[in-house]
Amino acid sequence: MIQFKQVSKVYPNGTVGLQEIDLAIRPGEFVVIVGLSGAGKSTLLRSINRLHEITSGDISIDGRSITSTKGRELRVMRRGIGMIFQSFNLVKRSTVLRNVLAGRVGYHSTLRTMLGLFPKRDMELAFEALDRVNMLDKAYQRADQLSGGQQQRVSIARALAQEAKIILADEPVASLDPLTTRQVMDDLRRINREMGITTVVNLHFVDLAREYATRIIGVRAGRIVFDGTPAQATDEAFAAIYGRPVANDERLGEMSHEAG
Ligand SMILES: Nc1ncnc2c1ncn2[C@@H]1O[C@H](COP(=O)(O)OP(=O)(O)OP(=O)(O)O)[C@@H](O)[C@H]1O
Ligand SMILES: [Mg+2]
Repeated sequence: MIQFKQVSKVYPNGTVGLQEIDLAIRPGEFVVIVGLSGAGKSTLLRSINRLHEITSGDISIDGRSITSTKGRELRVMRRGIGMIFQSFNLVKRSTVLRNVLAGRVGYHSTLRTMLGLFPKRDMELAFEALDRVNMLDKAYQRADQLSGGQQQRVSIARALAQEAKIILADEPVASLDPLTTRQVMDDLRRINREMGITTVVNLHFVDLAREYATRIIGVRAGRIVFDGTPAQATDEAFAAIYGRPVANDERLGEMSHEAG
């Protein structure tokens, strides 16, 4: 369980990122966070693993405060949380396998990692992870030789090799075309269902949010203004989250149409 208690975030320049967020995300949920650009989606997501530090309040994971944890214990908490970025964040000139093995780094000493010495168990985990996202045959290819969708699946595999119990994905499909978008979202959903990994995703497509989420959270000006099921997240509900009607380019369906 991920628990936010009265969480606020003010950036050093005075911009308010989050205001008094109370939120509990249960194990196995597939939460999609929606809201206009600048609403606070990334701030909310990234505060969970302390990629962003909060200003007040507390965030705990399975009853343990990550906000007040330091040093080695923080590293242990963080390795349970996989992070997926819009830009994939792979080492481009390394092989797919090396990139996936990077998920194991938090488990070993720096020296061992620098020497590239990974135990057999790590190799097994890496290959299992690649198999889960159907990328086993690309293990020895360089990351920069892959398509965007394939690169994103490698970054999902990296999170799996990390043995993450939680996956945070900040606009994971924003750089992808509509077809690839569905493949990546399907992978995330399959992993969520099969492995019970709690998944929190920022998305800006209304229809994708409805299709994949078990729960949709709407954010506006740093506050949660909607929290409901996909069925409750009607166009009217989205209009209330956005403060205006849903635009056509906020529907992937429309985009696929345009693409042919
Ligand atoms: N490093 C920063 N310093 C100052 N203000 C910031 C910083 N990062 C974000 N903000 C501000 O905090 C607010 C929330 O930003 P955030 O990135 O969380 O929005 P978002 O919902 O993820 O938007 P987008 O859809 O564009 O990614 C915005 O007003 C933004 O300008
Ligand atoms: Mg963002």
